[in-house]
Amino acid sequence: MKADRLRPLWLVGLLLAGPLMAEDQRQLATLPPPAQETLRQEMLANLVALNEILGLVATDKIKEAGAVAEQQLGLSVQGRNRDKPFDARPGPYMPQAMRALGMEGHRAASEFAKAAQAGARDRALALMPSLTNACVSCHASWRIR
Ligand code: HEC
Repeated sequence: MKADRLRPLWLVGLLLAGPLMAEDQRQLATLPPPAQETLRQEMLANLVALNEILGLVATDKIKEAGAVAEQQLGLSVQGRNRDKPFDARPGPYMPQAMRALGMEGHRAASEFAKAAQAGARDRALALMPSLTNACVSCHASWRIR
């Protein structure tokens, strides 16, 4: 009886301790605050683009999905920070391995885009998981704070 009454408390303790005990295994990439801000804005835009692509594919607007993928996530976005002050550009501050994951993401998005814009529906569908592979890999390995 007594043990039963205590169980909820014990569970609360466990839940609170969880985040404290879970050690963050990701590597830290040190970016100056303006570059962090640029990265964060880009990331939010990435998620919006991904959401848009999923919506377009679901309504069979494959070519449109391809256009969004290329313009927002593909190789076309490279160099878009060129005109920003150096300390507001995330790229140069990223360790090589992190930058490579970003590149991989752009390449994969462009490959999807190419198939989708050509109207190759089955191939585009098969390539869809590659749109999020780089997001997941990078998030699992790197943090900026
Ligand atoms: C090259 C690495 C890399 C890739 C690729 C990448 N991200 Fe990120 N993302 C990050 C880092 C680093 C953070 C910040 C983590 C932190 O706060 O320490 C982040 C944060 C975010 C956030 C939170 C933004 C906020 O307001 O804090 C979102 C949303 C996000 N990413 C979406 C995406 C999506 C969607 C993709 C793929 C289309 C993607 N990211 C690809 C590295 C990456």
